[in-house]
Amino acid sequence: MLSEQSAPVVKETLPVVGAAIEEITALFYQKLFEARPELLRDLFNRGNQANGEQRQALAGSIAAFAGMLLDHPDARPDAMLARIAHKHASLGVTSDQYKIVNEHLLTAVADVLGEAVTPEVAAAWDEVYWLMANALTAVEARLYEQHGTPEGGTWQAMRVVARHQETPDTLALTLRPADGTPARAFRPGQYVSVQAELPDGARQIRQYSLSSAPGAPEWRITVKRVRAAAGPAGEVSSWLHEEARVGEVLAVSAPFGDLTLPDGEGPLLLASAGIGGTPMLAMLHHLAAADSARRVVVVHADRSPADHAHRDELRRLVGTLRHGSLHLWYEEAEHRAATDGVGPAPAVVSAGLGELPLPDGVTAYLCGPLPFMRSLRGDLLRRGVAPRAVHYEVFGPDLWLAQQ
Ligand SMILES: Cc1cc2nc3c(=O)[nH]c(=O)nc-3n(C[C@H](O)[C@H](O)[C@H](O)COP(=O)(O)OP(=O)(O)OC[C@H]3O[C@@H](n4cnc5c(N)ncnc54)[C@H](O)[C@@H]3O)c2cc1C
Ligand code: HEM
Repeated sequence: MLSEQSAPVVKETLPVVGAAIEEITALFYQKLFEARPELLRDLFNRGNQANGEQRQALAGSIAAFAGMLLDHPDARPDAMLARIAHKHASLGVTSDQYKIVNEHLLTAVADVLGEAVTPEVAAAWDEVYWLMANALTAVEARLYEQHGTPEGGTWQAMRVVARHQETPDTLALTLRPADGTPARAFRPGQYVSVQAELPDGARQIRQYSLSSAPGAPEWRITVKRVRAAAGPAGEVSSWLHEEARVGEVLAVSAPFGDLTLPDGEGPLLLASAGIGGTPMLAMLHHLAAADSARRVVVVHADRSPADHAHRDELRRLVGTLRHGSLHLWYEEAEHRAATDGVGPAPAVVSAGLGELPLPDGVTAYLCGPLPFMRSLRGDLLRRGVAPRAVHYEVFGPDLWLAQQ
């Protein structure tokens, strides 16, 4: 909760800080990376810095947090804090780094807003920062403790024990701890961070959902190669496609992520598009292994059957469920009728869920591009599904989180 003296100051200055927040965070990152270039080389995603996405995510989360402190002083945006803390812990962020971020962020606020930043205003925003930072570090400390590692220390050497080109653009890598022990269990829907040692000496880190059975002794990640289009080719996905051969050892984090499937009896909708099918596979492996009696409606959209990674595995898994149904939708028109045996999905990408029957009390898990998830979420809410029953994973900085 904000102190009595800071609350009115934050209230008064939130509109001006909010209006300038993108400028503030741009300057903040510039200052941070000038002072600490190794953070951009080895910790932050330089692709997201170049395309501005991370900037928007950070700005959005701070503005949302400050707004919430004012409007609902007793509430805590737990979902937002958990999402950020899981991401931070997967990257190995440590509590001492919060001081560095604080210093450069508050200097950026003062530089952008000039004389408006009186000592009183600076102190009030410092308080907002530390309320958020302390909430995050508390969750991060718990996560590190759960993994039994010191702060930032969940990295483990994992050997590539199998590699399979799933589709022209997707590669499945099976990983096992290099010391030969079994990979640890994870919760279905979780991801790991993977380090790439790039040719220019940078260590870049990206997240990949675990697409295998949660209790198996090996992990599997499925990586889509980001090809050059509007921007350059993706650095880490291209590197993994080219360099991660059988026998190579990669530094991989412990499993993280809070978009996981809780145990229960209720019906489920698992809806994904493209590479967003990876967390759903782990969930389906989990449900199949437990011989679950839940009703599970699975919807997947892809460009074409040939582009659909783990297509046969998906069909097999849904087929083994007691009450599972699979609905596939392919963008390329010639494949739409050819769903052989499984129910066709409505045009989920362009038109949402259409008339697809959904069980009462369904809990939905969505993963795919933002427009896809936005359309499905809108449909679900219109059909009476409660907002708290709609969960989603974004394969990038979550620009949506702060906007809901
Ligand atoms: C929780 C989570 C789970 C994920 N799970 C998976 C998964 O299971 N499978 C999977 O394949 N991916 C997954 N991802 C995405 C993955 O982490 C990477 O984001 C993805 O592989 C792309 O990384 P990259 O290094 O190849 O691309 P990057 O190099 O990071 O590039 C990303 C984008 O930025 C653009 N860009 C880069 N530099 C510039 C520039 N200078 N100007 C303009 N644009 C630029 C690129 O063109 C590209 O479009 C997941 C992400 C998250 C957060
Ligand atoms: C109160 C302080 C902080 C806030 C509000 C904050 C907020 C965020 C947010 C919103 C994201 C995006 C999460 C997502 O949706 O994926 C993020 C990611 C990240 N944060 Fe923080 N963060 C803070 C402190 C720090 C610190 C101290 C570090 C370490 C120096 C750090 C490093 C990172 C990195 C490396 C990422 C991932 C970047 C990327 O993928 O582009 N953050 N943070």
